[in-house]
Amino acid sequence: MRIPLSRPMIGEEEKKAVLEVLESGQLAQGEQVASFEREFAEYIGTKEAVATSSGTAALFVALKALGVQPGDKVVTTPFTFVATASAILHCGGIPVFCDVDRQTCNLDPERLKATLERESGVKGVVVVHLYGTPCALEEILDITRSRGLFLLEDCAQAHGAMYRGRKVGSFGDAGVFSFYPTKNMTTGEGGMVTTNDSELAKRCRMLVNHGSRRRYYHEILGYNFRMTDIAAAIGRVQLRRLEEGNARRRAHASFYFRELSGIEGLELPFIPRDTLPAFHQYTVKVRERRDELLQFLRSWGVGCEVYYPVPLHRQAFLQSYGYGAFPVAESLSREVLSIPVHPGLSPGDLEEVARLVRAFFAK
Ligand SMILES: Cc1ncc(COP(=O)(O)O)c(C=O)c1O
Repeated sequence: MRIPLSRPMIGEEEKKAVLEVLESGQLAQGEQVASFEREFAEYIGTKEAVATSSGTAALFVALKALGVQPGDKVVTTPFTFVATASAILHCGGIPVFCDVDRQTCNLDPERLKATLERESGVKGVVVVHLYGTPCALEEILDITRSRGLFLLEDCAQAHGAMYRGRKVGSFGDAGVFSFYPTKNMTTGEGGMVTTNDSELAKRCRMLVNHGSRRRYYHEILGYNFRMTDIAAAIGRVQLRRLEEGNARRRAHASFYFRELSGIEGLELPFIPRDTLPAFHQYTVKVRERRDELLQFLRSWGVGCEVYYPVPLHRQAFLQSYGYGAFPVAESLSREVLSIPVHPGLSPGDLEEVARLVRAFFAK
């Protein structure tokens, strides 16, 4: 695509950092990972951070460390990437879906209350700050705390997003991040668990590293979900540049809000009060002709995508669970379209995307 939907921002600093690790001979379990964990925890504002090999691995170990066991129910959104639910299933847990709010596309606190009244055996809740827009954390925390449930924040799309002046990933019992190349910062593949609970961090650290704290002494059954020092070295540079990238994303979003407002049939993203989104995506809603707009933009070389075309309760591999209908998630899957907002866009790119969108609706 001439104007891609995402592009990792890799510069000379990342290349230099990788070369230094390669030349050091310490490619894994070295100082880069430990430093990246410290720096990431400090950035998010948590006591601890545990690096992993992917966001999916981070979700899985966080859920395991939070005590999800076979048969436990965990409430989450059906309008997310598959990993949010598959991590629950890999623990032997049962994802219980709860419909989302149409404006924010995030878990709806009122519906969450109703779901918890209906379901028994629920152990916790996983919220997703979809597209980088923070969830209604205060309302959701009230609900989970008063019922003794854990809250896990899936921040895979929300590095640096703020809720009431604090970074997401510091509100729940734990937060998880992904560093996949399309994300606001990348390590190639990689992930992180953030938490203020030192015991929880200790369990995550053990799960990531074969259940051991001391080499060849295995206290619990674990995995190899470690991040490499090559990845961590990239991550440390990316973290230093994250705020600058997010500021550019926000400036690009402001441009679209200005240039695309007032178009009949086009609904712009909703920014909830007290939030500073990370604009991982700039996602519009188009009630009619969404797929036509997608084809039109792509035909002009503009990358765009539907996140997500099939809500999780409609996915083939989950059909045996007999989920009911989640009408908001279903209608959103027919309406949403993400257009380029990444930091690498030029003023000319932004002008062109806006011009094409306007031209489409003028037809
Ligand atoms: C909401 C959400 N959760 C989890 C993940 C999984 O992260 P990863 O691809 O790093 O395993 C992703 C991204 O891919 C995501 O968007």
